[in-house]
Amino acid sequence: MESRLSSRADLILDSCIMRLIAVAKRPGMISFATGLPDNSLFDTEGLRRAADEVLSGDDAKGALQYGEAEGLPSLRKRIADRCRKETGIRATWENILLTNGSQECFDLLGKMFLDPGDSIAVENPGYLGALQAYSVYGPRMIGVDLLDHGPDMRQLESALSESPKLFYSIPNHQNPSGVSYSESARREVSEMISGSETVIVEDDAYGELGYRGRAGKALSSMTNNSVMTGSFSKIISPGMRIGWMTVPDWLLPKATQFLEAFCLQAGSFTQRVMDRFLARNDMDAYLKPIRAEYLRKKNLFSDLMEDMLPESFSWNDPDGGMFIWLRTPEGTDAMRLVDAALERKVVLMPGKPFHVRGGDNTVRLNFATASDEEMEEGMRRLREAASAFL
Ligand SMILES: Cc1ncc(COP(=O)(O)O)c(C=O)c1O
Repeated sequence: MESRLSSRADLILDSCIMRLIAVAKRPGMISFATGLPDNSLFDTEGLRRAADEVLSGDDAKGALQYGEAEGLPSLRKRIADRCRKETGIRATWENILLTNGSQECFDLLGKMFLDPGDSIAVENPGYLGALQAYSVYGPRMIGVDLLDHGPDMRQLESALSESPKLFYSIPNHQNPSGVSYSESARREVSEMISGSETVIVEDDAYGELGYRGRAGKALSSMTNNSVMTGSFSKIISPGMRIGWMTVPDWLLPKATQFLEAFCLQAGSFTQRVMDRFLARNDMDAYLKPIRAEYLRKKNLFSDLMEDMLPESFSWNDPDGGMFIWLRTPEGTDAMRLVDAALERKVVLMPGKPFHVRGGDNTVRLNFATASDEEMEEGMRRLREAASAFL
């Protein structure tokens, strides 16, 4: 019966993310592989109270009913207020469309913009989950190398000369590399985009996880050819599946229609719970200990790397997010390190699948999920794996 599947079934990129999550759950495994936030930071008590308030309030039945296609207005207002204050984007609550996680936005944007054979510019490396979502629509992906402070501008210029429909970018604490764009890179990218017919998809999944605050102004505050995507997954809970798109006025009617056709609406119950939760929490105060804890974990993790990994390995020092980007010596195949680590029950995410070209000697390391003890034990095992690899 497989022959009855659509041609899109052959186009979809293989992503190992969910498989890795399953492997990482096996007994005795230590995972540096996935993008899961630290469980211990979930505010279960605060969310329980918020859910209680929703279910015991005057409009409990309304919370269990269908809601507006665009999402709960009061939550959209909170998001728009935060967005204006933090990113400089002049969005009103009507520009915010709520989705089931921000992952859904990539599929929606693919549906809205991409016909087979169209092109999309992507960071190289780029976030695999989004590349997988776009791949279904059969675009030609033009890789733009991501350097230490933003995209390679010459490559971006050349990519834009091919008039791609979209440029997918993560300017803050990128997954997988941890890189953030510098202020000048942000200005340059938004100027280039403004002078083109390309729409930038600015993925802000880690924007609130800068250890010392936001890494910089949003590209979407400097150009109107843009959609920003956001999420509560990395700061409050991925299980609640609440993401959003900040959509410019010119795209709003179509985006709303697409959203409605796609899922009618994102889950209204979790939106109400999130709305209550946010009403009780000042966002900056709420984020302070979370940012501090991820900074502490990043420092511990990189100290362990410094102590235990060979000198021929190199890595960066991100100022936010959950990932460190590891390079094994030029010309080596980091997949062998991933295999050697797996034999020692440490799960790593190879860097290659995030690339449209190159990346053989790269590995993405997540320092957010493991406990301190797991980090120490995992790094000891990784040291052994590295010796075997070399
Ligand atoms: C860069 C980036 N964007 C988007 C997502 C999707 O997150 P969600 O659908 O939970 O909002 C992730 C998840 O790991 C991510 O790393």
